[in-house]
Amino acid sequence: MDVHLTEAQQQVQEAVKAFCARHVDPFVAQWDKDEHFPLEVFRKMGEEGYLGIPIPEAYGGAGESFEVYIAALDQLSRHDAGFACAYAVHLSAHALSILEFGSEAQKQQYLPGLANGSVLGAFALTEPHCGSDASALRCKAEKDGEHYVLTGTKQWITNAKSAGLFLLFARTDAATTGAKGITAFLIEAGTPGLKVDRKTHKMGMRSSETYDLVLDGCRVHESQVLGVVGEGFKIAMKTLDGGRIGIAAQALGIAQACLDEARTFANQREAFGQPIARFQAIQWKIADMAKNIWASRALTYQAASLKAAGKPVADAGAKAKLYASRTAREAANESLQIHGGYGYTDEFPVERHYRDAKVTEIYEGTSEIQKIVISRGLVGTPKAKVPVRT
Ligand code: CAA
Repeated sequence: MDVHLTEAQQQVQEAVKAFCARHVDPFVAQWDKDEHFPLEVFRKMGEEGYLGIPIPEAYGGAGESFEVYIAALDQLSRHDAGFACAYAVHLSAHALSILEFGSEAQKQQYLPGLANGSVLGAFALTEPHCGSDASALRCKAEKDGEHYVLTGTKQWITNAKSAGLFLLFARTDAATTGAKGITAFLIEAGTPGLKVDRKTHKMGMRSSETYDLVLDGCRVHESQVLGVVGEGFKIAMKTLDGGRIGIAAQALGIAQACLDEARTFANQREAFGQPIARFQAIQWKIADMAKNIWASRALTYQAASLKAAGKPVADAGAKAKLYASRTAREAANESLQIHGGYGYTDEFPVERHYRDAKVTEIYEGTSEIQKIVISRGLVGTPKAKVPVRT
């Protein structure tokens, strides 16, 4: 039994495991090779209730807690972290943001489709020139009567090709730079002027789709503003606070898969007349992986409990993501080492975990950004910034 998990969390993990045994495990290697996002399996997750876990029953969801959602994401990531990336963005970075910041009309309009899988959600903040420095975004939204006209380019947009709805951030006040004057918009796929552009070919997470978006005179009615005009950067940051707990869960799932597979391999593979698991060199690697996973699980589920209780999670989410993502990278490296030459081939899933793990230290805020968030909570924000933006 896992001491960190409640009964409801363990039940959801058993259910996700059974779902993956039927719909994910047999296909994951091929999806990875083909860079294929299995939209039909995603929709099936909606039909079976997994997409609605943290969405209230009033909006077509199951009304379960954020912690139960995190347990589902952790389990899904053990099977296919790429597919889990689509799941995490759909919920943490999209649907839960609408739940927190949307008007009643927006929630009624969009949450049922997001809960049942008929609509896939995407989050569009990053631009070609700015990732970590998110408030330097240049995409502009100019007011024209009751509409905004959006122009610009977004990059690294998970789920973009199949998405039905985008949560997109643009500058509504041209006189501003930085965090002020940014507004969040809900933009439906197919809106004229919104084009899904270049596909990004990634080293890992290849069963999630990543594209650029080009906005060229994209007209969006003012009713599609999420939250308050000019307050979009705070919406983005608060969304990412919760999103980072999701990435921690994803990293945790990858690390657990690496440990499970290393144990199986080490018990089966013989060298010098005995299973390699009998050698201390292997045992120490396994012990370190298990210890780091234990700590990552404690940090991740503690952060999830804080979020479920409505407490601020910027600090807890940053700590969980920072620690769990390093754990995932190191566990993938050590698991691959234990697999030896076999680990370097596509005969074992560990090479995929190795590729998938790395990005958990990069997306939804790099490890360096997590350290900025944690340290600002301790020593404050610098008063003046270096004026490098043009
Ligand atoms: N919650 C609420 N408000 C917040 C906040 C938070 N967590 N963080 C900052 N703010 C507010 C501040 O209080 C401030 O408001 P006031 O001006 O009213 O005081 C305003 O936002 C600006 O804050 P900062 O001056 O701290 O902003 P900054 O420009 O220095 O940036 C940062 C801070 C932490 C570095 C931020 O830019 C950041 O998190 N960068 C990383 C971006 C990121 O994670 N991108 C990932 C994109 S999604 C993705 O990865 C794709 C995917 O599909 C998986």
